[in-house]
Amino acid sequence: EDISVVVVGSCMTDLVSQAPRLPKAGETIHGHRFFIGFGGKGANQCVQAARLGAKTAMVCKVGRDVFGNDYIQNFKNNGILTAYVEQTENAATGAASIIVNDTGENAIVIVAGANMLLGQEELQRALTAIVNAKVLVCQLEINPDTSLQALRMARENHVKTIFNPAPAIVDLCSDFFKASDVFCCNESEAELLTGMSVTSVEDASQVGLELLNKGCGSVIVTLGPQGCVVCQPTNAAPKHIPTTTVTAADTTGAGDSFIGALAFYMAHYPTMPLEEMARRANFVAAVSVQTVGTQTSFPFQKDLPTELF
Ligand code: RIB
Ligand code: NA
Repeated sequence: EDISVVVVGSCMTDLVSQAPRLPKAGETIHGHRFFIGFGGKGANQCVQAARLGAKTAMVCKVGRDVFGNDYIQNFKNNGILTAYVEQTENAATGAASIIVNDTGENAIVIVAGANMLLGQEELQRALTAIVNAKVLVCQLEINPDTSLQALRMARENHVKTIFNPAPAIVDLCSDFFKASDVFCCNESEAELLTGMSVTSVEDASQVGLELLNKGCGSVIVTLGPQGCVVCQPTNAAPKHIPTTTVTAADTTGAGDSFIGALAFYMAHYPTMPLEEMARRANFVAAVSVQTVGTQTSFPFQKDLPTELF
């Protein structure tokens, strides 16, 4: 098949409550809206790449339950190949309890469930798709060993890798850096990984270089409304790529929209400079924050300015 982007990663059912603010420990507050959506970082990234026009496949595991069945239908509705989406009796489909406040910030608890049962065997079954892809994308909502193995499989077969260390873990195995062509994280993940605090573009540039030194091909640190910083070994200095100013309705999944877009550009415009891909991915992600919801807010190619393609 002509699959250009393969995502080995998570699916979660997002249970979203909108409330004026995030509750404190032990507190109950009234929210004003509840909805269920399709989420999970892996699936979100795959959906965004697909909506921009990439032929995509998802390698993941859901439960043999209503949420799992619905999720498979959601992949199909987005034109994503589901041959490597497996269902298990042994765990429930992953779930994310999300609270979004009136300024568009969120707090999330994930219960990975079936996602944690994705392993070696499932990767072997997806081998042909992985090694023939242009880009492979992984995150950390599945067993980290599975992510690392997928990245290595891709690397050995000259498939470009994007690794998104989210949610971040303090003691990330150093092999992840070496297996990443593009290592892409947000400011809080960068903080956790380096112990350095990241609030400004200057901080992001510094942590970016620190992460680059661990052996990644390139590093992108995303900064929300401040855009992102791109660090490449060929450039002396990190490059700040600002983004357009927008009013945020819900920033949930904005990082996934960015990474899905990046995967699309890497697969379909392989000679485009990474900084230009980042500039375009910033734009796509900025569209996503302006509407509520995760995948529901991810734009399609037809909704975007033609100069992005
Ligand atoms: O990155 C956003 C995603 O994180 C949500 O969709 C939620 O499922 C959590 O995994
Ligand atoms: Na959104």
